[in-house]
Amino acid sequence: MVDFKGPRMCPQGVTDARPAVVETSGLTKAYGSHVALDGLDLRIEAGATGLLGANGAGKSTLLKTLLGLVQVSAGEGKVLGFDIRTDGPSIRQRIGYMPEYEALDPRMDGIHQVRYAGELLGMNPTVAMGRAHQALEYVGLGEQRYRPISSYSTGMRQATKLACAIIHDPELIIADEPSNGLDAASRDFMLQTLDTTVRNGQRSVLMASHLMDDVEQVCERIVLLHKGRLVAQGRIEDLKAIDREYEVHVWGAADAMATGLADRGLHVRREGRVMRVAQERDGIPTEILEVAAETGAQVRRLHMYEASLEDLFIAIMERLGHDVKSSDDLYANAPKGGAGPA
Ligand SMILES: Nc1ncnc2c1ncn2[C@@H]1O[C@H](COP(=O)(O)OP(=O)(O)OP(=O)(O)O)[C@@H](O)[C@H]1O
Ligand SMILES: [Mg+2]
Repeated sequence: MVDFKGPRMCPQGVTDARPAVVETSGLTKAYGSHVALDGLDLRIEAGATGLLGANGAGKSTLLKTLLGLVQVSAGEGKVLGFDIRTDGPSIRQRIGYMPEYEALDPRMDGIHQVRYAGELLGMNPTVAMGRAHQALEYVGLGEQRYRPISSYSTGMRQATKLACAIIHDPELIIADEPSNGLDAASRDFMLQTLDTTVRNGQRSVLMASHLMDDVEQVCERIVLLHKGRLVAQGRIEDLKAIDREYEVHVWGAADAMATGLADRGLHVRREGRVMRVAQERDGIPTEILEVAAETGAQVRRLHMYEASLEDLFIAIMERLGHDVKSSDDLYANAPKGGAGPA
């Protein structure tokens, strides 16, 4: 947890009534000399958790490791109480996995593809067929179930992958970039379906995504990886609390105001006439008004800023030494190489 040690950033020691669906300790995966996962200590509770990180951060590797599909190099982990090193088949029977890449046979129709997924999990063909109808109905493909997958849109393919993942009504769904390539309507439907599965179905979802909005829409918690290392985990609301900011809109003398605030040792992020000042100590609003008076800036609005997950992500990346204006920035310039000094 580079720069983020301490209970506020990493509330791992906090006891919570909810059971853990995933727990790892020192989990490490190296591909040759490349360390893709570096000593991860994770505790993922029941509910919806977003797995965030730039390209190459290790998200897919972690998911595959939890499924027992990728052998760990060191450390240990449990999924629903099963050991990821030895109980891969038991884990895969109990969780639903929606992989990142195309996993469908274009020659099959939807219903047979989903039935096949059930059969692979050990269901008899009749039960699998019955469940396939239900699963396809659930993901909004009831009417298209007899069409060949080759004629499906990306949204329909993603929905079919989800149907395959939930055919056995798993306790935990692991979804790798579930809204990848989807248009706004399909994306919304996918996220709503995952959300309903958690809220009404009492199931857990662990979804890797590089889209902050997606994660914020579905998940209460996040795990954030950076170059194979864990940099933050916990409830989004708790994590946001570490970086509270006041937002001040000024008119005139904005440059002098920003300088004046910085001269007092305050951390200021500025976009034109809007400045956000970190709540690093008590009495910040008074100081803002004092600096405004000193510099002749007119304060038009002053309030506590409602941070988004995107803001939290940027704040964490800044602390890790990355000057990013948005998460897209980081994805466009994904950090090269594996774990190493951040
Ligand atoms: N089979 C493999 N052999 C060698 N290196 C690998 C393999 N799979 C992944 N890696 C490397 O491990 C690192 C983590 O990859 P991973 O796919 O887990 O990242 P990710 O966070 O899922 O990225 P993305 O956002 O692009 O999906 C990357 O540097 C990647 O190149
Ligand atoms: Mg990935």
